[in-house]
Parts: sequence; C-alpha cells; structure tokens
Amino acid sequence: MAESTGERLVGGNSTAEVVRIGDAVHRTRGARSDFTADVLRHLEAVGYPHAPRYLGVDDLGRDVFSYLPGNTTDHPSQRAEGAYALAGTMLRRLHEATAGHPLAGDRECVVHGDAGPFNTICRDGLPVAFIDWTGCAPGSALDDLGYLAWTWCVQSVGHVPIEDQAAHLRELRDGYGDVDAGALIGAMVEQQTRIAVAETANLHDPRLDPVRRAHARRAVDWAEADRALVQQHHELLLSALRDG
Ligand SMILES: Nc1ncnc2c1ncn2[C@@H]1O[C@H](COP(=O)(O)OP(=O)(O)O)[C@@H](O)[C@H]1O
Ligand SMILES: [Mg+2]
Repeated sequence: MAESTGERLVGGNSTAEVVRIGDAVHRTRGARSDFTADVLRHLEAVGYPHAPRYLGVDDLGRDVFSYLPGNTTDHPSQRAEGAYALAGTMLRRLHEATAGHPLAGDRECVVHGDAGPFNTICRDGLPVAFIDWTGCAPGSALDDLGYLAWTWCVQSVGHVPIEDQAAHLRELRDGYGDVDAGALIGAMVEQQTRIAVAETANLHDPRLDPVRRAHARRAVDWAEADRALVQQHHELLLSALRDG
C-alpha cells in the first residue's frame, strides 16, 4: 500500500484527496478520522452491510477503506423501483445499530450526517451502501432522516414532476419507518436552512480557498431553491405522506 498513485476519485465536494488503489480507497486523514474509524469498525462488528470497511492507515498516513463497486446517482431516472425505500431502510438500520451505544454519547444514535445520493453507492439503480462517513457523529435520527429525505427526494433542477418527488418521499419515509409527516417535512426544511446558513458563512470566509468558496455558492443556491420548493408544495407533500 506504499503506492502514492492511483485513480483520483472525483464527484465529491471536499478538498480532501480521495484516491482508489485496487480494491481500496485512500483518503487524507482529518480531525474526524479516529471517530469515523471507530464507527466503521462498530458497524462491521454488528454486521451492518451498508458501509465500507475501515482497513487502517497506509504508509503515507491516509485512511484506507474498502472500495465498493457501483455508482452514485443524481436523478430519479438513474434509480430502480424500490430505491427510495431501500435508502430509508439503510439509514434506519444505521440508527438502530448505534442507538444506545457509547459512540452515540448522550445523543440518540450515530448519524451519517451526509447521506445524500452523492454519497450512496448504487448497483443496478438500487442503493447498497453509504460512503463518505467523515461527517458521522452523535446526533438526532430525525435530523439525519430529514437530510436523507431532502437530498434523495427533492430537487428543483432536473425537471422531476413534483408529484414524483412526493411519491419518492412517501416511499423513503415508509422504508425508514413510522415518522410523523409534519415532523419529517419540518426536518427537511431545517436541514436546508442549516446548509444555507453554514455555506453562506463559508462563502464570506476569506480563509477558504476559491474552490471551496465556489462550492459554497452552489450549495447555498441548492439549499435555498430546494427549500422554496418544499415550502411551495408543503400541502402536497404532507398529503403524499399521510394518504393511504
Ligand atoms: N468506499 C468507496 N467505494 C467506492 N467509491 C468511493 C468510495 N469512497 C469514495 N468513493 C468515490 O469517490 C468520490 C469522492 O469520495 P467521498 O468520500 O464522497 O469524498 P468527498 O468528501 O470528496 O465527497 C465519491 O463520490 C465516490 O464516487
Ligand atoms: Mg462525498
């Protein structure tokens, strides 16, 4: 594992270097690396199948994870029947696998923190694993679900009919479990606001490099546009979650 070269993996938004070498992904270590490693080891120990395995640190001091074949998705047309329910179930199992564990500290469970489709490996259009666990932390299951529901089901770009978005939301919620409709929509809006506020601060932070600030601009626009869509169609989304 001493090789420093490999296939640079793009598609992520962080400035950390992510490189594939054979069956492994090597990534620059950061402040959260030790906690992330502990979480991934715990998930392996309990047989949680929807995460890469933590394989240790390479000769260059980078974290090493198992490489999971497949692809990320950014549009419903790339997903198969049942994809949204599976994404919901995968997150639910993470919350169940960590609730009450010391890794959750005094919070409800360990949350992934960034379980969007851009951090989910799919095969044949169905999600198989969440990747990019650098944001995992003790937290609130509903917050994590709100972010999952937003990033998987709501999009103001891509010409997805709002009725389809509502149906995906229903499917994802049913895959996760019994969660109140109003609380879920509230959690989505909260997550959109959290990202908009955090990325607005990054946008104006002169210590950040231009690439990171350009990302912040796109993230603010993304979160605000998707929040406006949820607010505009609040009633439709509520009834999709409640009907039947
Ligand atoms: N364990 C993995 N298995 C397969 N692909 C991965 C894995 N980790 C990362 N990737 C690929 O590399 C890209 C960037 O990695 P990610 O961990 O999401 O970093 P970033 O912080 O840049 O978002 C991902 O979008 C995915 O395509
Ligand atoms: Mg990522």
